[in-house]
Amino acid sequence: PVVNGEADGTIAMRAHYAPPWADVSIIGLAGSSGSGKSTLSQAIVRKLNLPWVVILSIDSFYKTLDPESHKAAFRNEYDFDAPDAIDFDVLVEKLRELKAGKRAEIPIYSFEKHARIDRTTEIYSPHVIVLEGIFALYDPRVLDLLDMKIFCEADADTCLSRRILRDVRDRGRDVEGIIKQWFSFVKPNFQKYVDPQRDVADIIVPRGVENHVAMSMVVQFIERKLLEKSTHHRAALKSLEVGAQSE
Ligand code: CTP
Repeated sequence: PVVNGEADGTIAMRAHYAPPWADVSIIGLAGSSGSGKSTLSQAIVRKLNLPWVVILSIDSFYKTLDPESHKAAFRNEYDFDAPDAIDFDVLVEKLRELKAGKRAEIPIYSFEKHARIDRTTEIYSPHVIVLEGIFALYDPRVLDLLDMKIFCEADADTCLSRRILRDVRDRGRDVEGIIKQWFSFVKPNFQKYVDPQRDVADIIVPRGVENHVAMSMVVQFIERKLLEKSTHHRAALKSLEVGAQSE
């Protein structure tokens, strides 16, 4: 019997067999700031209606700033829209831990403080992770771990207005600062780094959650993937049972 592509007999099969909870499916969801990634992620989770689906935001992996940069951030003069602002090494480490069925401690980021807070959240054995953020489809190591790649699209004026409302309401910002940051960093870096990620996407979702057709396609795709995986695991379990009986 062949499990995971290895034909080494029962012992090797045991060593290579990964239980279902170790085989998390990861969906990457990228798009401009304010394009509606968070809302789309929540809608996917709701529609999937499965018990173990978590949303992991790349925002949790913003690097810790040195004192100078931290001051610049409060003047809206720090570039949070370049890939260098994200700690991809830690993100990849956490995703690999979760893929291996381990529990992972995820930092919690405060946009008001421009810093991580003392607490962390724990993610443990999810079946599906929705990884959302402006750079969800950027790092090749992350791309390797993804089962599905989505790019969320929205007009720039829609994105900017959503961002103004949200940043004033939830992130302790003022309108002048938001607009200054948008034109200095968010907009140019969208063109430079964020938009090109659409080239690696499996699905581009125009108009985010309002797009019911695209939403149903995304959900159907995920459900099919999960079904394939559970069929594979059941087959693997069956061959294990056969192996054990013939010992
Ligand atoms: N950002 C910021 N201050 C920080 C860290 C990040 O203003 N200390 C901004 C960056 O400029 C970046 C944005 O946060 O553009 C990333 O979050 P965003 O994509 O806007 O939020 P999500 O909720 O992940 O996505 P969406 O708006 O699409 O729902």
